[in-house]
Amino acid sequence: MINPEIGFTSDVITNPNRFVGRTELLRNCLKAVNTPLSLIGIHGKRGVGKSSLARQIQQIAVGNYKTLINSGLKHEIPERSREYVTVYYQCDSIIKNVEDLLERLLNDQNDSDGLLRLIPNEGKEIVEFSRADETDVGMDLKVINWGAKGIESSRYAKVVENNTVQTFRNFVDAAITHQVKKKMKRDGLLIILDEIDVIQDKSGIGSLIKSLSSESLKFAICGIGDDLFEIISDHSSVERLLEEGSINVEPMPLHECEEIISRAEVLFDGEIKFTQEVKSEIASLSQGYPYLVQLIGKECVSKANITNTDIIDSEVLDEVKSDISNGKAFPTLERQYIRAIGQSEDRKNLLYILAHQKEDRTMFDTEVGKLVLKKARRDAEDLDIKHIDQQLPRLIDPKYGPVLRKVPDMTGYYEFINPILRIYCQLRG
Ligand SMILES: Nc1ncnc2c1ncn2[C@@H]1O[C@H](COP(=O)(O)OP(=O)(O)O)[C@@H](O)[C@H]1O
Ligand SMILES: [Mg+2]
Repeated sequence: MINPEIGFTSDVITNPNRFVGRTELLRNCLKAVNTPLSLIGIHGKRGVGKSSLARQIQQIAVGNYKTLINSGLKHEIPERSREYVTVYYQCDSIIKNVEDLLERLLNDQNDSDGLLRLIPNEGKEIVEFSRADETDVGMDLKVINWGAKGIESSRYAKVVENNTVQTFRNFVDAAITHQVKKKMKRDGLLIILDEIDVIQDKSGIGSLIKSLSSESLKFAICGIGDDLFEIISDHSSVERLLEEGSINVEPMPLHECEEIISRAEVLFDGEIKFTQEVKSEIASLSQGYPYLVQLIGKECVSKANITNTDIIDSEVLDEVKSDISNGKAFPTLERQYIRAIGQSEDRKNLLYILAHQKEDRTMFDTEVGKLVLKKARRDAEDLDIKHIDQQLPRLIDPKYGPVLRKVPDMTGYYEFINPILRIYCQLRG
């Protein structure tokens, strides 16, 4: 039995040895890390690899250049590359506004990523640790003992009653003075905010970031395209701040998708092999979404375990494909799919047609992923789907996902909210 997780993962990639491709983006990341004042903004569609890239920025920022070296960028690393102590925070939709966000950051007890870990406190024990497999490269700080006073940090960073912004400033200053400068002798603190797009009311975030950013404090924000620009647009000079640090994560080219599988073979230490034919097919099924490469790869290994083979050929992949089209392979995606279509065969067919729509590239050059309902209507008539207008509401109803979203300001245009679900609908058949 081979554990599929050794080679494939559906988690965010933190380990540089699992990170594949993205050379041009990594080059931009290195540049952004070394631009003292800029804000880093990572944007792209869901599941395309934003968080994994943000984790690599974190590695680069602490001085672990493994990912860069693996990508052949060693010679581009400046002799004296800027080094940081880092904070990584993943937002969630319960965060209502900027005030909430700061509260969360001030109270985040994550022992290796949180801001609170960097606030000196009586009895608190902080040690250096490596975010990579190997020690000695790119050290960051982690708490191993919060101390007798628990999370009471007010002695070293003044909490100002009813003023979250000032309290946050004080905490950040304390972290920079004591940990970044005195202890680690680094250039600055890097605060990475992931999934910032899910925050309900984004007003004020842009100006706050602008006002806090300095030589010794850099922000990186990560989120889905349009929403990220919404954040930035609340303060005109933030746009300028972002200019040098804007990182657009597009779907992966096919050869990089294939490389994920080759990398997995290395991680499996040669105990399992994929034929070239299967690699290409998985890459093409995944349409540039590394998440799907990882999922399909994992399923192939599980199948190979059952049939007791160590070569994954088209026969194994065909079994996986048939599991996918029966809804047995990916329970999480299947649940979203079933919730959307309910019991309706017509809705199932409509979703299938929508998922197969060719993007209208002539009209929407840069905006891939838009669907033209008018065209779907014709196909639907051909396929005898009754009352398309009655099938559609559930697909855009938040209660059932939603799967689709109306494209603002354009009548009759809808797009899949999650491109991975769109591809799943195609594979599901
Ligand atoms: N560069 C990469 N190499 C290999 N796998 C990747 C890479 N980037 C992302 N993945 C895989 O794709 C999936 C989605 O990545 P993630 O970073 O969470 O995307 P996003 O934050 O854009 O939703 C994860 O399962 C991860 O394992
Ligand atoms: Mg993410």
